[in-house]
Amino acid sequence: MTTNTEIPRAVADHEFHRSSGVLKQWSPVSSYNEWDPLEEVIVGVLDHATIPSFHPALEATMPDRHVELFKTRGGKPFPSELIAAGQRELDALCRVLEAEGVIVRRPEPVDCSRGFATPDWAECGGLYSAMPRDVALVVGSEIIEAPMAWRSRYFEIHAYRSLFRHYFESGGRWAAAPRPVLSDASYNPEYEGAEGDDRFVGTNVEPTFDAADFVRCGRDIFAQRSHVTNHLGIEWLRRHLRGEYRVHELSFNDPSPMHIDATFVPLAPGKLLINPERVAKIPDVFRGWEVLVAPRPCIPEEHPMFMSSRWVSMNILMLDHERVLVERGEKPLIELLRSRRFTPIPCDFRHFNSFGGSFHCATLDVRRRGELHSYF
Ligand code: GLY
Repeated sequence: MTTNTEIPRAVADHEFHRSSGVLKQWSPVSSYNEWDPLEEVIVGVLDHATIPSFHPALEATMPDRHVELFKTRGGKPFPSELIAAGQRELDALCRVLEAEGVIVRRPEPVDCSRGFATPDWAECGGLYSAMPRDVALVVGSEIIEAPMAWRSRYFEIHAYRSLFRHYFESGGRWAAAPRPVLSDASYNPEYEGAEGDDRFVGTNVEPTFDAADFVRCGRDIFAQRSHVTNHLGIEWLRRHLRGEYRVHELSFNDPSPMHIDATFVPLAPGKLLINPERVAKIPDVFRGWEVLVAPRPCIPEEHPMFMSSRWVSMNILMLDHERVLVERGEKPLIELLRSRRFTPIPCDFRHFNSFGGSFHCATLDVRRRGELHSYF
């Protein structure tokens, strides 16, 4: 595996390539969609994974049966045997990616057991450095750091900063959305049973979003308003990307929305995977796309899922238009993908799933070979 320090420095000024008749600066960061051939990826780590302290923002998306864990053990490590098993799966995933020709980078683990504070609030610890998809969005040659809504994740980006600095030195662009204050005004504890925008625990007093609430389809980027992503956050990204990209807001039948990638997953040009419980109507703009309806998850009911639903079964990662990483136990999904001319690569990831995500969440594609297109 390539370490962070082996990334070549400052080559970009000298390397150019012709693209669509336009002379463009080469960038180590270049990814426009979820399906072009993957060349370089960041894969998370589970070192120091810590149970975040209880807060209404967590309760809004937590499976009920684990709420007690957060109420009683916030700031303590997740079970060590589960962390070790998840780490082994992450390491095996890295080997699979490398065998498929992908360059793999890892973040620098941060000690999440250390507490921290701002002038407005204090937390007894962080969470983990396991889900790079949540903390940053790659749009073209730019890495955009997300203004995350959970206090426990306030400094999670630090694990990626040395990687981002090297990408920047090598010619990538690097920006961060305004850092939110996350005072009590950012949360609405009365969200349950409310209507309209009040049904989300996150209010709209400042921009917040998790990058995993966006999926990229070339010039069109689709976002969901969720418990962690608000209108101001979506609007901030829309204006930041204005001119080259269109940001669309979608809404689904999900009472606990947090991250679009277990609900609505564009797989390749003209192919879309949907969650049958959450997607009642295909958005008009996708009319004509082949729709794959995700089979029910095979994750056993009793499997610990501390931070997400079992629908992370559909949180798959495209390596190109055909090859796709899928959890080995998701046989019906593997069969469905095969029947629609994809090439599934089954991998073990059940222990990692317990931490709230799967292959898409655990990775951040830094570079895919391809250019900016409009697919609609
Ligand atoms: N966060 C996605 C899900 O729980 O399904």
